[in-house]
Amino acid sequence: MTQKSTAILDLGNGSDPIELPILSGTMGPDVVDIRTFHARSGMFTYDPGYLSTASSRSGITFIDGDEGILLYRGYPIEQLAMNCDFTEVCYLLMKGELPDRDQKSTFDNAIKGHSMLHEQLVKFYTGFRRDAHPMAVMVGVVGALSAFYHDAMDITEASHRELSALRLIAKLPTITAMAYKYNIGQPFIYPRNDLSYSENFLHMMFAVPAEEYKPSPVIVRALDRILILHADHEQNASTSTVRLAGSSGANPFACISAGIACLWGPAHGGANEACLNMLEEIGDVSRIDEYIKRAKNKDDNYRLMGFGHRVYKNFDPRAKLMRETCHEVLNELGLHNDRLFKLALELERIALEDEYFISRKLYPNVDFYSGIVQRALGIPTTMFTAIFAMARTVGWVAQWSEMISDPEYKIGRPRQLYTGTIMRDITT
Ligand code: SDX
Repeated sequence: MTQKSTAILDLGNGSDPIELPILSGTMGPDVVDIRTFHARSGMFTYDPGYLSTASSRSGITFIDGDEGILLYRGYPIEQLAMNCDFTEVCYLLMKGELPDRDQKSTFDNAIKGHSMLHEQLVKFYTGFRRDAHPMAVMVGVVGALSAFYHDAMDITEASHRELSALRLIAKLPTITAMAYKYNIGQPFIYPRNDLSYSENFLHMMFAVPAEEYKPSPVIVRALDRILILHADHEQNASTSTVRLAGSSGANPFACISAGIACLWGPAHGGANEACLNMLEEIGDVSRIDEYIKRAKNKDDNYRLMGFGHRVYKNFDPRAKLMRETCHEVLNELGLHNDRLFKLALELERIALEDEYFISRKLYPNVDFYSGIVQRALGIPTTMFTAIFAMARTVGWVAQWSEMISDPEYKIGRPRQLYTGTIMRDITT
């Protein structure tokens, strides 16, 4: 981070103009450093939703929303999705470099060594109703992990942060699959160390004590790609939640639980489930115009799920890769005439030709096709966001660890523009 120049701010109240450093990173927009602004002006800056705010410095993920570029530690997402598996990407996000053969083998074995849950935690599931949404279960169970890993943890120790990260990356597939099994009333299936990360997850999801589940390599590869595409995404709402929770020094398992809670919202990670439900509701190409009209109607807060993005004002590169994966999986499974996929392609075509979407730069995002792929893999709609959380856990914990190890970090404490009642006395 270097100072490139200086911004001069005249507050228009007769006070001396304020000089603010302009800082540059290695890529992307410069920033105006306003850390001393309140002390020198008595004012706050105002940016609800943080549309123009860089909340942190980070070297993990880079997004160029106008160009539709997404890099993990400098590598384009397209190259990672085609050439790596998910645990290689986990290693990259956490350590900054892709692993060599030995490093990958050691990392994979370390993950396998932490994939089981404490049996007491397994009992935690029975406290939920069988029809509890899997995301409610994930919030509860991941939060409960903080009760099992707390006393001996010193988050200022890099080795303790690494162990917490390994435990989270390793246990999330087990926790996620168990949420599904509990929901459908089947017995929990324990992880197996002879399987890859994605194979193991599919095993825990779909095997039963009476019968093994052997997924096709195409399905394993498709799930692995879905996990890679969802692994991290800069300072999105749930990652910012994890950082803010973690900035108080809170237990990392509790912080990841907070991230899961935030991801659940339909404006964020919940959009993949909402998008598939929307496609089911539209039902037929003939009804697309009716829904496009609703999405454009200012008096109707209806939005096309899977469209638009706070940062991407071009195609979300993940949506393109997800659409390709859709083609591959549906063709492999003989579902190339899948009704919803054809509906999604037509909805995308019509929306991208519509002035309302063009003028607002509303393109399909990562959630638009991910639901169709997951449904083709046999994953139930209610599990889509849980799988997003499972994938994003590595991004959350990598960003959390980067923050804790940054000497500049402080507890996050935004201020406000007060618009309430002015000071007054109680009159008896
Ligand atoms: C994710 O941040 C991340 O990185 C998130 C994520 C990640 O990997 O972590 O990428 C994952 O959350 C993807 C987004 C998934 N959400 C959805 O698909 C839900 C539908 N999308 C919208 O809710 C919306 O596009 C957001 C929330 C995603 C983005 O909101 P913005 O940038 O704040 O957009 P906006 O509300 O300022 O909208 C600008 C205009 C508005 O119209 P006008 O007031 O200008 O007339 O675009 C319209 C909006 O009404 N608009 C839409 C729309 N999204 C925005 N109109 C119809 N359908 C939509 N989907």
